[in-house]
Amino acid sequence: MAAPTSLFEQAVTAFRQCFAANPQLAVAAPGRANLIGEHTDYNEGHVLPIAIDRYLVAAAAPRADRTIRVHSTALGETFAFDPARVPADRPRWTSYVAGVAVELARDGHRLPGADLLVHGDLPIASGLSSSAALEIAVATALERLAGLEFDDARLVAACRRGDHALVGVRCGPMDQFAARACRAGHAGLLDCRSLELSHRRLPAAVEFLSIYSGIPRALAASEYNERQDSCRRAVAVLQAAWPEIRALRDATPEQLEACRRDLGERAYRRARHVVTEQRRVFAMVAALESGDAERAGSLLYEGHRSLAEDYEVSLPVLDEMVEWLARQPGVLGVRLTGAGFGGSLICMAAAGAVDEHEAGARFAERFAAHTPDRPALWKLHAVDGARHRPSFIP
Ligand code: GLA
Repeated sequence: MAAPTSLFEQAVTAFRQCFAANPQLAVAAPGRANLIGEHTDYNEGHVLPIAIDRYLVAAAAPRADRTIRVHSTALGETFAFDPARVPADRPRWTSYVAGVAVELARDGHRLPGADLLVHGDLPIASGLSSSAALEIAVATALERLAGLEFDDARLVAACRRGDHALVGVRCGPMDQFAARACRAGHAGLLDCRSLELSHRRLPAAVEFLSIYSGIPRALAASEYNERQDSCRRAVAVLQAAWPEIRALRDATPEQLEACRRDLGERAYRRARHVVTEQRRVFAMVAALESGDAERAGSLLYEGHRSLAEDYEVSLPVLDEMVEWLARQPGVLGVRLTGAGFGGSLICMAAAGAVDEHEAGARFAERFAAHTPDRPALWKLHAVDGARHRPSFIP
């Protein structure tokens, strides 16, 4: 895996080739893997993500005009736009960049035009939030070019407005928060109502593996937005009995049970995932704090079961992968991480118990015939988010 310095150097070289000029600086934004708290962020609940050691780097130089010109080395595409008039016929990936530029300007920031080159080792569409890393890399590059300092919560809110308006996905705040503000060696406990983030140290006795299923996270925007609609409907039913419930975060399992008939079975199960997942976040924090690795692992399995059976965002082959991994010596727990419908799993194992190359080869061999891309497995490390990393000055 490329270390950030070599990624920076590659990005700078590519910038020079693309724009025939030197970048002023480059910044790196990491991907994220969520330990637990899935589909709780847009229900104003809690999440527990880590920023991972796979990055998107943005190399940047200011321009004399207001234009943003951006090149992606992964896609081999360049796109230029004026943030005051973003063209409707833009490539999809550029919507993340345009959303950030438009919404930061709307927040009153006077930003320069910029040439940007995006390069990284964070796989795209793998459920590890390459889109949030793209937004945060671009936003952090623009922030530093302009000599500003953005407030994390306001920046994440701007990214989300961009996602909602230009991408059409009504995502929560988790991914951008992790890419921007998480700390090395820690998971970030984020309260998605107050947007308060506290850093929880990861115990040295466990380590984490990222497992790419080989199934690109499909453009499941409609399914994702549908889950949100059903959460909102569940809140409306609960509110009829308990007006103080503002979001599913506020509901107890007992209140949910009392409304089961009014909710109908499907909405009840969707809401049950969120209500129980919210409790699993705190159980996980307690397990990690007390060093109870067995308990932490069993919470991952419980979380996966709830995503598969109640929230219905897993796939049969992902469930088989969880079972396969669960049989490997030293593995403590596994679950789907991110929105679902493909993407990645996160696995917790006793430190040093899993040989990533040997297990990775067996895993890929077992599942490659069932997935469009080659499945992959690697050890991940919790790293600093973009705001805590110095710029690379070429
Ligand atoms: C995606 C979204 C996040 C979150 C997760 C599910 O990654 O971008 O906001 O809702 O799905 O937990």
